Amino acid sequence: MSDAATATYPVPAHTAARTICDADTYEAMYRRSLEDPDGFWREQIGIVDWIKTPGVMGNWSYAPVDIKWFEDGVLNACVNCIDRHLPARADQPAIVWEADDPNAASITLTYAELHAEVCRFANVLKAMGVQKGDRVTIYLPMIPEAAVAMLACARIGAVHSVVFAGFSAEAVAGRIDDAKSDFIITADEGRRGGKTIPLKQTIDDAICHAWHDVKGVLVVRHTGANVPMTHERDVWWHEQRETVSADCPAEPMNAEDPLFILYTSGSTGKPKGVLHTTGGYLVWTTLTFKYVFDWRDEGALHWCTADVGWVTGHSYIVYGPLSNGASTLMFEGVPNYPAVDRFWAVIEKHKPATFYTAPTALRALMREGDEPVLKHDLSSLRLLGTVGEPINPEAWLWYHRVAGKERLPIVDTWWQTETGGILISPLPGAIPTKPGSATKPFFGIEPALVDAEGKFVDGPASGNLVIKRSWPGQARSLYGDHQRFIETYFSAYKGLYFTGDGSRHDEDGYWWITGRVDDVLNVSGHRLGTAEVESALVGHAKVAEAAVVGYPHDIKGQGIYCYVTPIAGVEGDAALEAELKAEVRREIGPIATPDQIHFTPALPKTRSGKIMRRILRKIAENDFGSLGDTTTLADPSVVDSLIAGRKNR
Ligand code: WTA
Repeated sequence: MSDAATATYPVPAHTAARTICDADTYEAMYRRSLEDPDGFWREQIGIVDWIKTPGVMGNWSYAPVDIKWFEDGVLNACVNCIDRHLPARADQPAIVWEADDPNAASITLTYAELHAEVCRFANVLKAMGVQKGDRVTIYLPMIPEAAVAMLACARIGAVHSVVFAGFSAEAVAGRIDDAKSDFIITADEGRRGGKTIPLKQTIDDAICHAWHDVKGVLVVRHTGANVPMTHERDVWWHEQRETVSADCPAEPMNAEDPLFILYTSGSTGKPKGVLHTTGGYLVWTTLTFKYVFDWRDEGALHWCTADVGWVTGHSYIVYGPLSNGASTLMFEGVPNYPAVDRFWAVIEKHKPATFYTAPTALRALMREGDEPVLKHDLSSLRLLGTVGEPINPEAWLWYHRVAGKERLPIVDTWWQTETGGILISPLPGAIPTKPGSATKPFFGIEPALVDAEGKFVDGPASGNLVIKRSWPGQARSLYGDHQRFIETYFSAYKGLYFTGDGSRHDEDGYWWITGRVDDVLNVSGHRLGTAEVESALVGHAKVAEAAVVGYPHDIKGQGIYCYVTPIAGVEGDAALEAELKAEVRREIGPIATPDQIHFTPALPKTRSGKIMRRILRKIAENDFGSLGDTTTLADPSVVDSLIAGRKNR
């Protein structure tokens, strides 16, 4: 690697001059957070407004698994994100929206306008029959109403379950059923990269597939497309909006009342409904946003390019920024529409102070060269961030040089849907950075490495990443399946939270996340279970067996490699390949479209019939030298033919 890639980058002078947390402050606060957690959190909880301030801080155990924070506290997340800012910020933008079409007008909602809009939305939900504790599925494009809908649920104590608007009807149906969701919020259509996406149509199909009886669908008019409305079930938001008041009292919520469910992929089975509660999640997202983005009480604009359908959008488009009184930018489109300079054009237009995106987007943009970036004025920026997957030093250096002009700090933030917010990241005024390292743990976070046997590995080493103690933003359960929560995260290593990631810990105490060590893929920063893709493939009548693994992909980080054995007498040809890709898109959505389909008459199996996934992974990676022992295979010749097949691709 080049010297630039292995160098350490000091805190930039302009960051040091304004930071809310320098190196000494970080060290002192971090130490205190571990040595006296109760005292530490008692001081920090004032970052949110409580109706009743909690007396109890953490009350948790990993064996048996029972996690509570601030359990006697009462608050409302929506009030924290809106009402409490009204005295000082009524006329400050809360949400700034940039349309997919660069020529369409942007929209700004001030805090006062957001308040009125959320109250109306909440009143419409109540009129539809939504009550405290009800699960509401939100299937919306990146429009202001997505944030409004989430906050309206929070206001009345309903539990939102946002489903990314790229998931298929089948996938949505599974999530409606699992959450037993009586209500859905959607739009007529979405827009992305110049194309329209038939959202209401997908919801109609999902309702047909679901066994759960959906009582009401609230439809936002966005493109104005003509969509069928089912009598007595579907209502238009813009019509209902006129019938309700712009005032809606907020429901006092116990800190441990659920705030939302968010489905994410695991290494086995169906997606899991990760459950977050109100007090701990809000404290965590508020505090991490403030420290990681070095946010002063400044009312500036923050841009996180994620979709609200993922946890990054929940925590760092909606809850974290708004709870801090920031202005948050929502972008409907994609980085390369209408041209590859769109991100940078949006920065020039709206002038955010902070920009938070995914390595996959940076890798794609890097290929277009420096010119699309350099032609725009990015001088509003004071900080860059990345999230979602490991960033390769090459992409980090490009981001640093071209977008950051070698003067902006980069925060490489490691976290997960289950962690609620950032756990490992540089604090920009405190921690020098190294390209590719998420650096140091946030307050209260105690990471460690274990080997396959569960023994701690100390010092500079590599291993499986675990977290030794709970933090307020941690997920409390999987919706409706606490046993699966225990098995997935707390049974591999007793008394520890297992992240599913591998990591290296270097001589300076820096953490380098290397990626998943389980059967979860990270494709363009999106989590996908190999089991979900396999289940879609074997659902096709012509498929006998399938095994799915990840392989390195220049842009996506990981690509989806599928080994497929057709049923006897069926040819694995281009037509079948196209059918299978369509099947996966239908079952899950376009994000899961296989990159490679490798037809094979057999899969490598042990004599007891277990598929040797390790070998399949190596072959997909084009790494034939280290296949390990293949003599335990029922038919070792399968491996030779798979290698030959891989070489021909
Ligand atoms: C990966 C997204 C390396 C990791 C917030 C994790 C990362 C999974 C980073 C969670 C990072 C996320 N460096 N890997 N900075 N951030 N990951 O639930 O494998 O969609 O387990 O949450 O993304 O993905 P999820």
